[in-house]
Amino acid sequence: MSDKYTFLGHGVHQIDTGGQTLLIDPFLTNNPQAAIRADQANPDFIFVSHGHGDHVGDTVEIAKRTSALVICNAEIAGWLGNKGVTAHGQHIGGGYHHPFGYLKLTIAFHGSGLPDGANGGNPAGMHLTTNTGKKIYIACDTGLFSDMALYGEGGLDLAVLPIGDNYTMGPNDALKAVKLLKPKHVVPCHYNTWPPIAQDAEAWAARVRTETDAQVHVLKPGESLDL
Ligand code: NI
Ligand code: MN
Repeated sequence: MSDKYTFLGHGVHQIDTGGQTLLIDPFLTNNPQAAIRADQANPDFIFVSHGHGDHVGDTVEIAKRTSALVICNAEIAGWLGNKGVTAHGQHIGGGYHHPFGYLKLTIAFHGSGLPDGANGGNPAGMHLTTNTGKKIYIACDTGLFSDMALYGEGGLDLAVLPIGDNYTMGPNDALKAVKLLKPKHVVPCHYNTWPPIAQDAEAWAARVRTETDAQVHVLKPGESLDL
């Protein structure tokens, strides 16, 4: 049984596995790249990587409408709880067996302040082992770090990496990340949403093809990859 990854624009992702839908960082309203509207999202679970507005996005509205359980760090879980949203708090290095698979929070070098100025704890990425055995690493917003090699050790079917620069890794560091992670498939994200993160993803993809064994896929918002 195959799992499906869908890029929804900027840092928004969806994973469909075993009849469950996991929506990641659902910033849809006011996202120039969004492939769907917030009222079209119908997840069973939502993962929020950090507190920034372009990641928390429409989480509260979608979670209330769909009753999706939100998975995030404990500080953001508390903030969401105060807004009437049910959230499951985890922390970096900690994994949990959710109905769709084992999700572990990874380190991410970034900020995490919430839109209203509340403390959003530490930013995170996610490493997911689905119930069908696929391993997916979504770095979310981060700079490059050499421990990415550890996240790749068990083998990765897919890595999703930011290439936008300015706020996260740029193309050069994202290429180094591919070399550390050694994923089977890699997808770039978090670029071209706004002028400060404009990048030529096809040029980056060409370098990945030349310098690594990874299969790189430059997905347009709304496009999917079967794993
Ligand atoms: Ni951010
Ligand atoms: Mn961001």
